[in-house]
Amino acid sequence: DVAIQISPSILSADFTHLADEAAAVANSADWLHVDVMDNHFVPNLTLGLPVVESLHRVADLPLDCHLMIEDPDRWAPSYAEAGAGGVTIHAEAAKAPVRTLRTIRAEHARAGLAINPATPVEHYAELLPELDMVLLMTVEPGFGGQSFLEMVVPKIRRARELIDGGGGTVRLQVDGGVSADTIEQAAAAGADVFVAGSAVYGKEDPAAAVDALRAQAQR
Ligand code: DX5
Ligand code: ZN
Repeated sequence: DVAIQISPSILSADFTHLADEAAAVANSADWLHVDVMDNHFVPNLTLGLPVVESLHRVADLPLDCHLMIEDPDRWAPSYAEAGAGGVTIHAEAAKAPVRTLRTIRAEHARAGLAINPATPVEHYAELLPELDMVLLMTVEPGFGGQSFLEMVVPKIRRARELIDGGGGTVRLQVDGGVSADTIEQAAAAGADVFVAGSAVYGKEDPAAAVDALRAQAQR
């Protein structure tokens, strides 16, 4: 069994204190999840390359960059160059995913593919050898603080079967509505990397929240 990883989403943090917010989870989390939104692929605008470059200089955790943008083929390599530990592109947006995923790896970042709730994971089985991580959205992308979509749980199981069947070491991340109430069912279905925004930064003690989520996912 691979170890559980927790990736707190900086989207739910205080953007006026990003360095402190990153430091708050540096000793408890594995990654720092960075949601890049362009107001076109999703109806929200967050942050881009300059902020990722700045965060990379101050954060002690590798940056897990989730690109919710219309043209990931154009922009993903720049996020890897900016120092991201991982760059995840959306299946629904990428026009040349094989080339883009290979470019991300060539820039020494982990390559991820994100899949929206209504997108079947089976369509992307052939891409598994190109991937270090599959991200299954458990909300419609765009905002923190939404409710976990239970309809995605069978897809988590199918993705786990595809990954194990391929014999590789692809990580399976879930993102959206992950909390003390939902993390156990996602873990039981086969997820091993958990993004949590409001369930970490919405708490008084974000580091303790990470520890508690990890303990629940390991059960
Ligand atoms: C949603 C983002 C998520 C979001 C998760 O589009 O991809 O990473 O920050 O926030 P919570 O955990 O509050 O649902
Ligand atoms: Zn995300």
